[in-house]
Formats: sequence, structure tokens, C-alpha cells
Amino acid sequence: MQKGRIVIVGTGIMLGAHMTPVAKSHLQAADVVFAAVTDGITEQWLQTMNPDVRSFAPLYELGKSRHQTYQKMIELMLAEVRAGKFVVGAFYGHPGVFAYAPHKVIELARQEGYEAQMLAGISAADCLHADLGIDPGRVGCQYYEASQFMFYQRKIDPSAYLVLWQITLAGDRTIARFDTGEAELELLVELLSPQYPPEHQVVIYEAASMPFEQPRMEWISLGDLPKARLTLKSTLVVPPALPLQKNDLMLARLQALQQS
Ligand SMILES: C[S@@+](CC[C@H](N)C(=O)[O-])C[C@H]1O[C@@H](n2cnc3c(N)ncnc32)[C@H](O)[C@@H]1O
Repeated sequence: MQKGRIVIVGTGIMLGAHMTPVAKSHLQAADVVFAAVTDGITEQWLQTMNPDVRSFAPLYELGKSRHQTYQKMIELMLAEVRAGKFVVGAFYGHPGVFAYAPHKVIELARQEGYEAQMLAGISAADCLHADLGIDPGRVGCQYYEASQFMFYQRKIDPSAYLVLWQITLAGDRTIARFDTGEAELELLVELLSPQYPPEHQVVIYEAASMPFEQPRMEWISLGDLPKARLTLKSTLVVPPALPLQKNDLMLARLQALQQS
């Protein structure tokens, strides 16, 4: 029997436009493809490349913990690897960006002695940097998952960009909802208030997922976030509230080094 192996690929964000040639060739060669994509059209597109595409979509249910869903995905993929199959897991965007199951299945498959690899894909982050013209190297850029940002003590740098992922789930402690309410977002605005005033301009960003769509880049005041229309695709971008602050002490020490 051939030894099982797994490759996790990203399908990108825009249907039919973002998948890398190497991801496509693995999809075509796989014995079985598991698909965690955002819509039926993308699933149909994957079916044109491989006759055995199995959707993870039915695993998501309102009121069911997403941890259980991710666990099931991992079990399903590993079972086929153990059965000697060449398995491809196709996850939307970049499979390693804000995604638990892809990293975990690779770790577990390797622990069991199987070959396992992740290939990079085009993430919502890549689209965001292009559409909004934000170079993370200019003043820096902080990425957080919105709920984790609320649950733990974090030190924000208000002179860098702040990007909050899964903003529509902000503050969800059940991990079983598809959105949260105004009250949770009010708390997020309050949490940000020492660094960012309510009139600070932020962007609700949604990259285009269909070739005929335009990205959503809606500027609003931070204080209006609780009433804003948010979807599962929304990412919140908070531009810097302060210019870069010089570290005079370090600069003086560096200068002293260069003079010695
Ligand atoms: C579980 S993460 C998956 C991200 C995905 N792996 C990627 O590489 O883009 C889901 C979050 O990604 C962001 N996201 C997904 N699709 C998006 C889109 N079309 N535009 C902007 N952000 C998006 C949102 O913050 C969403 O809540």
C-alpha cells in the first residue's frame, strides 16, 4: 500500500484568480480533496480539478463550538492519510493565516511519520495591503484576532497599524456564534479608547472574492463601529493615531557605537 501524505494549499480570496500553479497541480493529483472554502461556487470550481472533493461546509453549525468543527476536519483528513491516500486540504486564503486546523493536521501527520506540507496562498492580508496601499514596513502593522485581543492583556503600539481579524465575532466566548452584538463592540471601542478617540477613522475592509466585485473599504469613526454592518469577511483596519516616537536613548547609544 502506498504511504499516505498530505499537502495543505490555499485557494486564495478571489475565485479562480488566486490559486498558485503548484497548489493547482497538487489538487489535480490528489486522491481526495477536502475543501474549506467560503461558497458553493468555489467548491464547484475545485470539482473541475478533482473528482473527489469533500466539503467541510456541513461541519459548521450555529451553536456548535468551532473547536469541535476543527477537530472533525483534522480527523477526516488524517483518516484518509492513514488509509494511504494522497490528501489535499484546500483552505480559502492562505491556509496558515488565522486558521487552526491546517497547522494542527500537519503537526499530527508528521508526528505519525507521514509527509506533510503547507503551501502559501493569497490571504485577505495580501489583498488588504494591496487595496488599502498599506506597506507593513512603513510604520509597522499589528495583527490580532479580535476576540483574543479582548480576552488578554495586550500592549498596542498606536504609531503602527492595528488590524483586527474576525471582527464580527469580537468578544464571542462561546466560539459557537456567527456574529456578536453591539454590546461586545462597544466594549472593544472602550478597550481601544485610551489610544484611539471615538472620532478616529478606521476602515471596514472586505477583499473582493468574485472577479466582478470591488473590495469594500468603508471608512467610519471608531465610535460608530458597534452600529456598522459587519460580515464574516470583515476585517477592521485601525490606522496609526500617533506619529513614530523616536527612541532617543537608543539613537544616542548607536551613535556612540559608530563614533568609537
Ligand atoms: C478564519 S480567518 C481566515 C483567513 C484566511 N485564512 C486568509 O488567509 O485570508 C477569517 C477572517 O479572515 C478575514 N477575511 C476573510 N475573508 C476576507 C475578505 N474577503 N476580506 C477581508 N478579510 C477577510 C476576516 O477577518 C475573517 O473574519
